[in-house]
Amino acid sequence: MITSNLNLAIHELVNDGIVAIPTETVYGLAGNARNETALRKIFILKNRPFYNPLIVHIRSSAYLNTVAQNIPEIAMKLARHFWPGPLTLVLEKQMDISDLVTAGKNTVAVRVPNHALTLELLNQLEFPLAAPSANPFGSISPTSAQHVQNYFGKKLKVIVEGGNCERGIESTIIGFEENQPVLYRHGSISMEEIEKVAGSVKVIVKNEHDPQAPGMLSRHYAPITTTYLTNNVPELTKQFPQKKIGVLMFKDSIKAKGIAKVEVLSEAGNIQEAAKNLYAALHRLDKANLDLIIAERFPNEDLGRSINDRLERAIKKG
Ligand code: TXA
Ligand code: MG
Repeated sequence: MITSNLNLAIHELVNDGIVAIPTETVYGLAGNARNETALRKIFILKNRPFYNPLIVHIRSSAYLNTVAQNIPEIAMKLARHFWPGPLTLVLEKQMDISDLVTAGKNTVAVRVPNHALTLELLNQLEFPLAAPSANPFGSISPTSAQHVQNYFGKKLKVIVEGGNCERGIESTIIGFEENQPVLYRHGSISMEEIEKVAGSVKVIVKNEHDPQAPGMLSRHYAPITTTYLTNNVPELTKQFPQKKIGVLMFKDSIKAKGIAKVEVLSEAGNIQEAAKNLYAALHRLDKANLDLIIAERFPNEDLGRSINDRLERAIKKG
């Protein structure tokens, strides 16, 4: 059920249930991060492999030391600058954080989400919330309550209605190796913004199947419809003369034979607006009974890097 009644969500959560919550990035599938029954339910509902660790959501940076320890000063600086917001920090975990959350690693991923309803929820709970994105493993992340409902239907008793997600792409994940920041996932905060605060950042974003970096699986964020990514949409369109094509463009629309549906992410050419609209546009294209989707590659800077990363993972290989 989609509802804005937080009491219904609280009731579920304190009874080891799971609920969908809105955040500024994407909707999450949340459960008590300190309860293994709830944690197991998250993995089972998502069909997520247990080697893929979860992000812990806390109400403010004052609670960071309840889940993490030996926090580098540079991490504190990033937290002060970006929280609440779409930055996830990978830190040495506190002893009592479950192996289900961390996939047995000694690090924990943590963030303070920037959404009024979810902050209110966290304030009313005595435990942090573990929450991956609220989509079945490998599929497109949800940016509205309706997307979550479409995926899980009656399997989820409570979906908290929090409107369309403001940022629309998952959080940027930063870890620390020898106290130096390392970017593990491009996300809603661009690398340029991170570097303004943290200095130069090493990028270790994996593309191949790798249980060490499951968020980076290649076939992730993927529509069911076969999807291509190109610098030249008109050229590629010509290669599929008999097909019903859907097109995903940054700012300019396009008309050509075979193109049945066009999604323009930001007519104004605003990269933030494009990021916000990306997943909803992919959801619509995926539901439009098309033979294929052709997406335009974005300029590889700022949030364009994050959008390209998600589009790369949406395409079928081979
Ligand atoms: O914006 C977001 O981050 C959303 C909202 C709901 O907060 N959550 C999200 O969760 O995107 P999820 O599970 O779809 O992606 C979390 C990623 C995982 O794929 C995993 O690779 C990475 O975070 N992660 C979690 N714990 C980690 C750890 N200890 N070390 C390295 N990566 C970790
Ligand atoms: Mg996800």
